[in-house]
Amino acid sequence: MKPRTPVIVNLIVVFVLLIIGYDMFVQNSSFLSSIYFWATVVIATIMVFIAHGIGDLIESDRFLKLSEEEKAQYIAEKKKPFYKRLWESAFKKQSNAEEEDMIIDHGFDGITELDNSLPKWWLGLFYFGCVFCVVYISAYAFTDFAHPLKEYDKEYKAQLASIEEYEKTAPKITVETAKYDPSNIEEGKALFLANCATCHGDNGKGGIGPNLTDDYWINQKEKDVFHNIFWMLENGSPNNPAMRAFIKEGTISGKDGEKIAAFVFHLNQELPPVTQAQGGAAPQGEVAPWVKGTPRK
Ligand code: HEC
Repeated sequence: MKPRTPVIVNLIVVFVLLIIGYDMFVQNSSFLSSIYFWATVVIATIMVFIAHGIGDLIESDRFLKLSEEEKAQYIAEKKKPFYKRLWESAFKKQSNAEEEDMIIDHGFDGITELDNSLPKWWLGLFYFGCVFCVVYISAYAFTDFAHPLKEYDKEYKAQLASIEEYEKTAPKITVETAKYDPSNIEEGKALFLANCATCHGDNGKGGIGPNLTDDYWINQKEKDVFHNIFWMLENGSPNNPAMRAFIKEGTISGKDGEKIAAFVFHLNQELPPVTQAQGGAAPQGEVAPWVKGTPRK
């Protein structure tokens, strides 16, 4: 009969397995402060103690059935520290007398079975696996090695760099080549809020800058409204330096200008104007001659 693994070892193993399991499925370490994690730990601890208690009963029952000699041997073996037993069970070959001890007490047609130590190569592989696991998990948790978030960050930066490279070499968008595309409206809105809304209001209703939702225009430089907006972004206002030449100054790229112009076109041509009664700025300039809703192709 073999001495049993101390309950503390089982507890540590179960606790470590729980941490690994939670860490794999929760994806961050927030579970350490979660009530569910600690409830699982408490339940697992209770179950380990119950299993150990049942083990105690089986152990004492089997102990009573041993001969005096076997009892003495068992007590001596039990006095050895756990780690020593573990080491010997992995690396020490048993004697014939010990083999006697290991015969499992069931048989069929005279065939009996030994409760033998596992092959050394198997154990070696197993312990290698354990060490690899510990190294890999610590590397994953505490270093940059093979960490998905770090790898994502790296790839993301590489992509940004290649976009920047592309923008440097890609043909510049000018008032000659800019095209209206409704799929730009959404992004154009975000850019408008960041660059223009301080002066023209979130919805283009006007403020320091004129109302962009009505048919009155101070600057009428192009033949259609979309390109007129783009022209303003490229060149700024010839009358008022507050309206800067965003594209020529390099504050925004031609591509972003195309997106912003699409959004302003949408405000001006596709949404109802924000009138003075609705809090919009008073019309400035003259009614423009361009035909409603037709951006130049
Ligand atoms: C610092 C304030 C300010 C900011 C920021 C600003 N504008 Fe203006 N904008 C003005 C002023 C002032 C005018 C009127 C210029 C004039 O009198 O010719 C103007 C004029 C315009 C016009 C022509 C309106 C007309 O009636 O002729 C357009 C189009 C325009 N802005 C679009 C934009 C867009 C798009 C942005 C964001 C990229 C922007 N503006 C950012 C102040 C601003």
